[in-house]
Amino acid sequence: MAQLERGRTALVTGASAGIGRAFAQALARRGLDVVLVARDKGRLEALAAELAGHGVRAEVLAADLAQPAELQRVEERLRAEPAIDLLVNNAGIAATGAFLDVPVAAAELQLRVNAIAPTRLAHAALTGMRARRRGGVIQVSSLATFTPSLASIVASEAQRSRMWWRSFTRWRKKTRASASHG
Ligand SMILES: NC(=O)c1ccc[n+]([C@@H]2O[C@H](COP(=O)([O-])OP(=O)(O)OC[C@H]3O[C@@H](n4cnc5c(N)ncnc54)[C@H](OP(=O)(O)O)[C@@H]3O)[C@@H](O)[C@H]2O)c1
Repeated sequence: MAQLERGRTALVTGASAGIGRAFAQALARRGLDVVLVARDKGRLEALAAELAGHGVRAEVLAADLAQPAELQRVEERLRAEPAIDLLVNNAGIAATGAFLDVPVAAAELQLRVNAIAPTRLAHAALTGMRARRRGGVIQVSSLATFTPSLASIVASEAQRSRMWWRSFTRWRKKTRASASHG
């Protein structure tokens, strides 16, 4: 995968903790420059300092992906230079419980972070990747999609995984077909 070569740039959402942090560390070890996105600027700066030890550039972009204006800043970075070769759509939250036990505001917040943000970010990233004819998106999702009792997670994660997988598969088939005929 060319997007994982040394000198390429990856943008990782939810890089301040957990799986996103581990992604950022693994990518930096492979020699990729990284753009670190999450709300906690202090944790991102500490991670950036750690990753500089691998001889890569680590850029901090603190943003709350549930806030349209802050989400827009991340979209702008995805369209800017240096070009982003890999987007890791990882940031996510879980409001667990039966549907009516989860306050509607929490369900809406979850949809913003787990479904709307990754959709907008992938759209912003893929526009440039298609023009450059290289790049990739890793979509971190959850098996909770297949667990009906976790109703509110199912709504947001299903948006992310099932719908995404189908539309990406169609898009990839279409671009491969046009590449081989064009
Ligand atoms: N861990 C699991 O067992 C598991 C299982 C299935 C799926 N997943 C999925 O994997 C992903 C990562 O999970 P994790 O366990 O690593 O989660 P985590 O440790 O809770 O980390 C979540 C990350 O998302 C960021 N984040 C949360 N809300 C945000 C917002 N509004 N704007 C920007 N960033 C935000 C957090 O950073 P800040 O707080 O600094 O913003 C943090 O960096 C999630 O999408 C989750 O649904 C995890």
